Amino acid sequence: MPTAAPLPFDAYNTLSDEEAGARIVEARRRLGARAVILCHHYQRADIYRHADLTGDSLKLSRLAAQSDAEFIVFCGVHFMAEVADILSRPEQIAILPDLAAGCSMADMANLAKVERCWRELSTVLDPDERVTPVTYINSAADLKAFCGEHGGIVCTSSNAPKILDWAFARREKVLFFPDQHLGRWSGHLRGIPFEAMPVWNPDLPLGGLTPEQIERARIILWHGYCNVHQMFQPAQIDRFRAQYPEGKVISHPECRFEVCEKSDAVGSTETIIRVVKESPPGTRWLVGTELNLVERLAEEVKPEGKIVQFMAGTICMCSTMQRIDPQHLAWCLDNLAAGHIVNQIKVPEHEARLAKLALERMLTAS
Ligand code: 13P
Ligand code: SF4
Repeated sequence: MPTAAPLPFDAYNTLSDEEAGARIVEARRRLGARAVILCHHYQRADIYRHADLTGDSLKLSRLAAQSDAEFIVFCGVHFMAEVADILSRPEQIAILPDLAAGCSMADMANLAKVERCWRELSTVLDPDERVTPVTYINSAADLKAFCGEHGGIVCTSSNAPKILDWAFARREKVLFFPDQHLGRWSGHLRGIPFEAMPVWNPDLPLGGLTPEQIERARIILWHGYCNVHQMFQPAQIDRFRAQYPEGKVISHPECRFEVCEKSDAVGSTETIIRVVKESPPGTRWLVGTELNLVERLAEEVKPEGKIVQFMAGTICMCSTMQRIDPQHLAWCLDNLAAGHIVNQIKVPEHEARLAKLALERMLTAS
C-alpha cells in the first residue's frame, strides 16, 4: 500500500551511514527486480557495495538501454541519469538519489553558448557543411540534442578517437565540447598537430580566435575541463618514475595532455580498472583518476602483491559524485517501495528524441 505522501528526507538526514545502509538493504528486498542500481566507479564505498551493475559512462549507457527494471536508480551524476532516461523505454523511470549531483565540467558548456559559437562560426564558414559537433557524454541533454540536430554525435572517454573517425568521415572539422583535454588527447592519437586544435573561449568574440585559425583548425576545442583531473601534474609522474623506475603509470584522458603523454596507458575508468587487474602480480601503479576508484582498486589488487598509488599529493574526489550518500539512496528506495517516485530525471520529449539520435550514432559507431 502506498503511504499517503512521499516520505520526507529530513527523517533520513539524521541516520548514521550504517542505519541508512540497513534501510537500503531492506528497501531493495521489498523492491526486488523492480529496481536496478547502476553505479559509476567514482561512487563512495558505502554506495558502491549496493550496486547491481557498475561501469564507466559507455558501459552504464549500454546497461541502462538493456535494463528491464521499472526503476533505474543511478548512483552517478545528473548527465548519466539523463542518458539512462533517454535510452530506456518510456515506461521506465530514471532516478538520481540527490538532484544536486551534477558535473562541474558538464556545466562549462550550455546550449546558449554552443548556439552562439555555431552562429559565430557561420561568419567564417558554413558549420552545417564543414563542422561535426561532438559532445562528450559529460554534457546536458540539450547539448546532445544539438549534436543530434546538426549531424553530430556523442563520445565517451573510452571511444573518443573512434568517434573522431566517424566525425571526420562526414565533415572536415570537429567542434568538441566541453572537455578540451579529452578532445586534444584524442586528436593527438589521430595525428592532428596542436596548431590545428585551437581552444574556443566562449566568453570572447569568435572564441578568441582569428578567422584564419578557424579555417586552419581540424578540431575546435571548447574551453572546458574537469577540476578533479586538473590536480594531476607531470611532476608527480616524474617523481614516481625516479623513485620506482619499474613502476607503471595510467591516467584518465580528462587529465592534461602532459600527464597523458607521460603515462604508460590512458583510458576510461573501466579501462584503468581492467588494465591494473590484468597486470602481472607485483606491479606497482601510479593512477591519475578520482580517489574513490583508486582506493577501491588498491584494496582489490593488494592480495596479488600489486601496489596502487594515487597520483596527486592532496585528496581529490569528485565532490558532486560524493553527494550520493546512503541517506539519499535509502530515502529514494524507501519512497519507491512505498509507491512514491522521487527525484525522477525526465528529459523533455523533443530534446530526448534528438539526443537519442546522437547517442545511438555513438553506440553504433563504437
Ligand atoms: P568514464 O566514462 O571514464 O567513467 O568517465 C566519466 C567521468 O566523469 C570521469 O571524470
Ligand atoms: Fe564531472 Fe570531473 Fe566529476 Fe567526472 S570527475 S563527473 S568530469 S566533475
